Amino acid sequence: MENLEILKSEIVASVNKAQNIKELEDIRVSVLGKKGTITELMKGLSALSVEEKKEMGKNLNILKSEVEKVLETQKSLLEEKELNAKLKNEAIDVTLPIRPENQGRIHPVSKIYEEVVAIFGEMGFDVAEGPDIEDQFHNFNALNMPANHPARQMQDTFYIPNPESQDFDDSFVVRTHTSPVQIRTMENRKPPIRIIAPGRTYRSDYDATHTPMFHQVEGLVIDKNITLAHLKGCLYDFVKAFFELDDIPVRYRPSYFPFTEPSAEMDIGCKKTKTELKIGAGTDWLEILGCGMVHPNVLKAGGIDPNEYQGFAFGLGIDRLAMLKYGIPDLRTFFESDVRWLKHYGFVPLDESSMTGGLSNNGGIAR
Ligand code: DAH
Repeated sequence: MENLEILKSEIVASVNKAQNIKELEDIRVSVLGKKGTITELMKGLSALSVEEKKEMGKNLNILKSEVEKVLETQKSLLEEKELNAKLKNEAIDVTLPIRPENQGRIHPVSKIYEEVVAIFGEMGFDVAEGPDIEDQFHNFNALNMPANHPARQMQDTFYIPNPESQDFDDSFVVRTHTSPVQIRTMENRKPPIRIIAPGRTYRSDYDATHTPMFHQVEGLVIDKNITLAHLKGCLYDFVKAFFELDDIPVRYRPSYFPFTEPSAEMDIGCKKTKTELKIGAGTDWLEILGCGMVHPNVLKAGGIDPNEYQGFAFGLGIDRLAMLKYGIPDLRTFFESDVRWLKHYGFVPLDESSMTGGLSNNGGIAR
């Protein structure tokens, strides 16, 4: 019994002295392993008398469980110590400037998105959103495109079956444009309305200037006395700010969209050569957006009285703007997730777009 007490204090002392998990494990094996001290004592029990066996067996079991407890406590202490040392060793000083070669980049689409929001934000527009998966009412019908309307063929739509209906008219679509956000906004807000709706759009198309997923920005302004002059002034200010030019020739060509009447496409002046496209004065024109006065049927579908209110709308392609502004030749490369491409065409993250600090801030182009 006394011997066991001595043994116990020896073991406890050595356990407490262990400096790391490896040392502790060696001690455990030397005590409780196959040839460990306590294991050997237990083996010796068979040589004892029944009475002695009872007494000694009990004491050995108590000793064993006490030793196990001490081992366990010391183990968690050492584990914590090792973890803390590791954390200290691997600590990252977040105040250190990042190495330029390791810095991430903002995708040109995000950059244009920020620029467009900054420009229209300054003019007092809010950002509105809608779902990517739309019903046909919001994507088509409410925009003055009832079923079988020929204009539906203008867009190569991806349809999504409706699990609750076999009727094709009930199937969903991935929105073919951001225009349904016009309807959703009218449904949820009272005029005056002044919003832009940037977001993803989808059409079945794939070549150097088309991808199945692309990005648009929708604009919608509704109030009592909104006229075509407001549309022209607003979009002229936008293109000047966007292309960072004080003067830029623009023209409006009559066009057709079911949801606007009259409808137009806006062109900006440019100079095209074999190798270069220069935005600004020149003899060529480049189409950049579609626009028009909101069709009375669209106002009605959105729950707004066309006898009281009128407004204008416009829609433009973000990716196309990015290609134009930053000279990126192939749209497909936007979505290939090639880090080398992003390094070349991307933007430094902290270089935010604002009307006061500069929009594209060319010093920030990561080249
Ligand atoms: N939704 C049209 C498209 O995707 C773009 C558009 C044109 C939007 C004219 C408008 C607009 O709001 O008035 O081709």
